[in-house]
Amino acid sequence: MKTGYNIAIDGPAGAGKSTIAKKIAKKMNFIYVDTGAMYRAMALYLLKREIDPADTNRIAKVCGEADISIEYRDGEQVVLLNGENVNACLRTEEVGSMASYSSAVPAVREKLVELQQRLAAKADVVMDGRDIGTVVLPDADVKVYLTASSAARAKRRYLELLEKGEKAELPQIEQDIIDRDYRDMHREHSPLRQAEDAVLVDSSDMTIDEVVERILSLCR
Ligand code: DC
Repeated sequence: MKTGYNIAIDGPAGAGKSTIAKKIAKKMNFIYVDTGAMYRAMALYLLKREIDPADTNRIAKVCGEADISIEYRDGEQVVLLNGENVNACLRTEEVGSMASYSSAVPAVREKLVELQQRLAAKADVVMDGRDIGTVVLPDADVKVYLTASSAARAKRRYLELLEKGEKAELPQIEQDIIDRDYRDMHREHSPLRQAEDAVLVDSSDMTIDEVVERILSLCR
């Protein structure tokens, strides 16, 4: 049974979900649950096992062997894969790309949705992902569909990479974003879509603080 207050934020890659969700969690003293990190941890496991992203039967079979759990250390979500903290390995393009294939496999989703629902049942959470308002927390108190144009999202990602001193090509980044959106929105199971009762927030021309304020006002 649901006892906590639940805020669900869905949207495409690069819309700013995690930045915004973290800020809201801090302001409201809620737990931030990054569900993308769970799909990434599963992807990391599959990459380590050298499994082909297209081999959905194999993915369905071996995903049961990955023990994924979540802990909170100093307010930060730590993802444990078979007991090991894998946070530092999750944010690469390779892992993100594998995650966009493996997250389409129903056995992977079943396993991770259950973990997400358990976390939200007992705590006040801000949870972000692709299917939070539609599948994971259909009774969430506030649902937001946070999006931005692919050009705006690519530019943010580009600047982020430059800041880290990494090489980046803007057109390639935008194409990757468009491809990932397509896969997330057109998969058969739990595709990315706006829940009927979610509020659409387009962050293309908004600052982070404006988006945070908009969502806080929905909670009030
Ligand atoms: O948000 P992210 O980039 O960390 O997500 C990684 C991948 O996981 C992305 O391709 C979509 C998938 N995902 C999902 O299918 N459902 C979620 N609730 C969260 C992420």
